[in-house]
Formats: sequence, C-alpha cells, structure tokens
Amino acid sequence: MNTLLLHCRPGFEGEVCAEIAEHAAHLDVAGYSKAKPHSACAEFVCSEPGGAERLMRKVRFSQLIFPRQWARGEFVELPESDRIGVLLEALAGYPVCGSLWLEVLDTNEGKELSTFCRKFEKPLRSALIKAGKLKDDAQLPRLLLTFRSGRQAFVGMAESNNSALWPMGIPRLKFPREAPSRSTLKLEEAWHHFIPRADWDKRLAPGMTAVDLGAAPGGWTWQLVQREIKVTAVDNGPMAESLMYSGFVEHQRADGFTFKPRRPVNWMVCDIVEKPARTAAMIETWLGEGWCQEAVVNLKLPMKQRYAEVRKLLARIDDGLKGRGLKVFIGCKQLYHDREEVTCHLRRL
Ligand SMILES: C[S@@+](CC[C@H](N)C(=O)[O-])C[C@H]1O[C@@H](n2cnc3c(N)ncnc32)[C@H](O)[C@@H]1O
Repeated sequence: MNTLLLHCRPGFEGEVCAEIAEHAAHLDVAGYSKAKPHSACAEFVCSEPGGAERLMRKVRFSQLIFPRQWARGEFVELPESDRIGVLLEALAGYPVCGSLWLEVLDTNEGKELSTFCRKFEKPLRSALIKAGKLKDDAQLPRLLLTFRSGRQAFVGMAESNNSALWPMGIPRLKFPREAPSRSTLKLEEAWHHFIPRADWDKRLAPGMTAVDLGAAPGGWTWQLVQREIKVTAVDNGPMAESLMYSGFVEHQRADGFTFKPRRPVNWMVCDIVEKPARTAAMIETWLGEGWCQEAVVNLKLPMKQRYAEVRKLLARIDDGLKGRGLKVFIGCKQLYHDREEVTCHLRRL
C-alpha cells in the first residue's frame, strides 16, 4: 500500500512526476516517480513503509497544481471471473472505509470503462458492506478504486477532506444555457476549488464589485452577475447583449493590462491569453496596490518545464507581495476546464 497514484490531464504526467517528487524530497520521503506519456496518471513509489501515508498527511491536496486526484495503495490484477473476491482479498490489510468511488483515467480507454464501473459498483458496494470493509462515515478514509482496464485496478485510499472534491477530480457542472460562453464553467470551477462553499455568501456577496479583464463575450461576467456582483467588463470585443441589459455590467473598451479601477474592487478576474510573465506582473500590481481583495486569473503555461516555470512565477509573485509587506494567500490549480493553462487564486489576508 505504498504507492501514490495521481490522476491528471493527459499530457501532464511529467509535471505531476516533478511536482510530487519535489514534495517528497522536501519531506524526506524516499521513492521515485514514474509515468507513461498520455496515460493521464503518474505514480510515486515509496521505498520505505508508511511513506505514501506520510506524504499524504503532510501535503494538502488543494495545494498540488497538476494532480486531479490521488490515492495511496497498489495495483491489483483482476481475473475476469471473480473480481470482487480478489478485491476483497487485496483489501484485507486496509482499514474500514467510509465511502467508495470507482474511478477511471481521463483517456479513451477510461471512457470506455466507465460503463463497466457503473455496473460493477452496486454488487461491489454490497459485498464490501457485507464484509465489514465499508460503512457510511465521512470521518473514515475514502476507498478509491481506479480501473486501468477490466483486468487491473489501483486499490487506493485517501482522506475525503484531503483529496478531490469530485470523482477523478472532474466537476459535475451543468453548462447554463443563458451563459454567453462555455468559459463560464471555468470560473465556476475555480470558485468551487478555491472557496469553501460555506464562504460563498460572504466572499461572493450581492453588492460586491468586480473587474473582469478580457471579459468578452461574458461567460465569467455572467457568473459574477448571477451573484448580483457589479462588474466592469474590460475588453475591446463585444459583450453579449443580454448581459448588458442586466444593469450589473459596465463595458469598458480598454486594454486589460493598463486598466486601473477608479476605486478598489472586491474581485478581479482575468481570462486574457498572454505571456505568463506579463500576467504574473499584472497580478502582483492588482494585489500589491490594493486594487482588489481577491483574484482569479488564468496563467498560460509555457511550452517547456511547465511545472518548474509555474513554480518560478508563483514564487516571484509571492516574493513581490511579501516585499511590499503584504500577506496574500496564493493558490494554483490546473482545473478540469484548463487546457494549456493553470488557474491562480489570490486573496489579501
Ligand atoms: C478567452 S477570451 C475570454 C472569455 C471570457 N472569459 C468569457 O467567459 O466569455 C479572451 C478575451 O480577452 C480579450 N483580450 C485579449 N487581449 C486583451 C487585452 N490586452 N485587454 C483586454 N482584453 C483582451 C479578447 O478580446 C477576448 O475577448
């Protein structure tokens, strides 16, 4: 039970390997990371007993940038005839778990396996309950079974308060038909990821103010307007007319990188595709000058050394803000709706 399995967007396995290896080295957890390109997962194989558990205890999942989900456990080969029997045997050394998720990887094979998982879940759940391996208790670890094929599964565990919010880290958000663009889901996902649900009414409250840089046609602005937040939408492109009728939006045709708000706002959000260093400098100005309290900003990924470069940029922003004597929380995640980018969240404390 000493391997960590980490799910990710296909193509980002190298970033996950680099990221988890850095944390392990920092915490003195011996082991190595490995991954097959485009497998949508990476493994960190710990070489000392208890290594995977220690790593998961010391690292907050929400602080990891590229992993979408994680679990500690091991791969188990499954026969076609008695999968449940073999899984129960494999679980002999595991503690009782408080919930069960069947997961697949974000690959074409994974998509094909989801139907199998849906059918398999019910009999498996009954067998686990009967064997005393599963009971409904949010305090207990979650049992995470990741199927790589019908013949092989990673039998893993993770604490439900220190792992993905959704199976496979993929949010179930419904696209609102009235929203002007699909990008709308990105801001909604960012809020779910970075803001505890219990804080939404306080931190995304009616009457608050926001600036949306690169706002057109208005998917992000739409999310803010839904929460009755007044938005200055900055973009040379046209905003969806329906939004302009809402009475909550002022459209400014201006350059987002030189725009300065007339007075400080609660939120700045930015979805402009730009060189990451330029975006990072802009973030530092907004938070550093006190133009906004919180921000959600898209950071485009560089072509190479993507993890190392993102870390460098985040460290630069952090150093800059600390140099101004400010305490700012900085979070960063490659969200499900992010492709060649990551999403940053900043909050002045
Ligand atoms: C990905 S789109 C934004 C989509 C938007 N968030 C939504 O949900 O509908 C990027 C936008 O940034 C705008 N843009 C690009 N460079 C800009 C700049 N320097 N200043 C302001 N807007 C810019 C583009 O016109 C484009 O509308």
